[in-house]
Amino acid sequence: MQIIHISDLKNYIGQEVTLRGWLFNKRSGGKVRFVILRDGTGYLQCVYFKGNVTEDTFDAADRTGQESSIEVTGKVKEEPRAAGGYELDAKGLTIIQNANNYPITPKDHGIEFLLDNRHLWLRSKKQVAILKIRHRIVKAIRDFFDDRGFTLMDTPILTPNAVEGTSTLFETKYFDLGSAYLTQSGQLYAEAGAMALGKVYTFGPTFRAEKSKTRRHLTEFWMVEPEAAFFDLNDNMDLAESFLEYIVQTVLKEMKNELGILERDTSKLENVKKPLPRISYDEAIEILKKNNVKLEWGKDISGADETIISNQFDRPVIVHRYPAEIKAFYMKRDPENPKIALAMDVLAPEGYGEIIGGSQREDDLDQLLERIKEHNLPQEAFEWYLDLRRYGTVPHAGFGLGLERTVSWICGLDHLREAIPFPRMIYRNTP
Ligand code: 4AD
Ligand code: MG
Repeated sequence: MQIIHISDLKNYIGQEVTLRGWLFNKRSGGKVRFVILRDGTGYLQCVYFKGNVTEDTFDAADRTGQESSIEVTGKVKEEPRAAGGYELDAKGLTIIQNANNYPITPKDHGIEFLLDNRHLWLRSKKQVAILKIRHRIVKAIRDFFDDRGFTLMDTPILTPNAVEGTSTLFETKYFDLGSAYLTQSGQLYAEAGAMALGKVYTFGPTFRAEKSKTRRHLTEFWMVEPEAAFFDLNDNMDLAESFLEYIVQTVLKEMKNELGILERDTSKLENVKKPLPRISYDEAIEILKKNNVKLEWGKDISGADETIISNQFDRPVIVHRYPAEIKAFYMKRDPENPKIALAMDVLAPEGYGEIIGGSQREDDLDQLLERIKEHNLPQEAFEWYLDLRRYGTVPHAGFGLGLERTVSWICGLDHLREAIPFPRMIYRNTP
């Protein structure tokens, strides 16, 4: 008999088939047993009628515990009332392994219990939907850059120096060479790549020893970082807005079912279209002032302030031209005002905060040397990076998008911990 997946049922209406997976749930009536099978591609109600199946099979439907691995056979029927539109008029039920006392039951569990059992929690309906949307976002990210002439360039995870400030570095011993650090961002290497290939992107795990225990912070997260030669701040903002539109519209179009499982209000996502509003840091301060928040010029915009700013708009907002003092050493100063960095952040709506951070890069050797000194960074470690300014320097720019923050926003999650299969946070590195 043909072994198929639940996602293929439409091609087998009226035929006898076999499916393999796990018992998601079950119910019984007097002369009927319902077994909900899940196989990773979907959910299928299998109906066993007493008299239609052997005694043994009918009893098996009762004996099988939640999350037992099973094989079912039966005839595929169209059933408009069923979730996926099909039902199985079931004949056979083989238990591959009978699971007893599966820890995660349909009742409510506390978050710590669920996180302790993350390896099992992943099987639940919402978590499966999130993982699928995450996968679709990753594919959209790759497609977007691949289709626009960017070359994927992988950058190292073990690195000799900091990119985004020295306070969040994870340090590890590295043989006789002293210390190595887990990368905070592939950007500096991507800049070397942009000088070789014109347009590149890196996509991989990045690490921050964040002391902050917030719903927006992980210690290990995935970041995609495009970098392009001959790009300025405006090109960078144009790229970011096209990118966000593409990701969100793709997910809206292709992941309706999963967004439905998550009960996501998609009306807020439909607005994510070009052009995105662009405001300067100075204008952001004005918005805060109108909302009775006094932010002194030169201070960073907090998470709470980001929410106030983004609440003024119906789509993500780009904030540009920040005080140089609060931004990274590699950002280019505004030629019209040296106190300002040609930086940009994109703030997501609905309180999800910063999802993109980027800038035009300092392309002048002397300026960059000065920045390295100001930031007390060891010049030797950056000699290779300075070489990019010694040999054919050009204006260039790029940004980083945090994958989990994007997944969390699009899925409407309360916390980043559900946006990654196995979250790493200040108080958790298991399972
Ligand atoms: O703003 P960040 O620190 O920028 C950079 O790392 C640049 N080097 C990127 C570049 O220009 N190539 O981080 C970029 C994004 C943030 O906007 C946020 O979405 C995410 O990375 N991010 C985090 N996500 C989860 N947990 C954390 N601790 C994060 N820190 C940053
Ligand atoms: Mg940032």
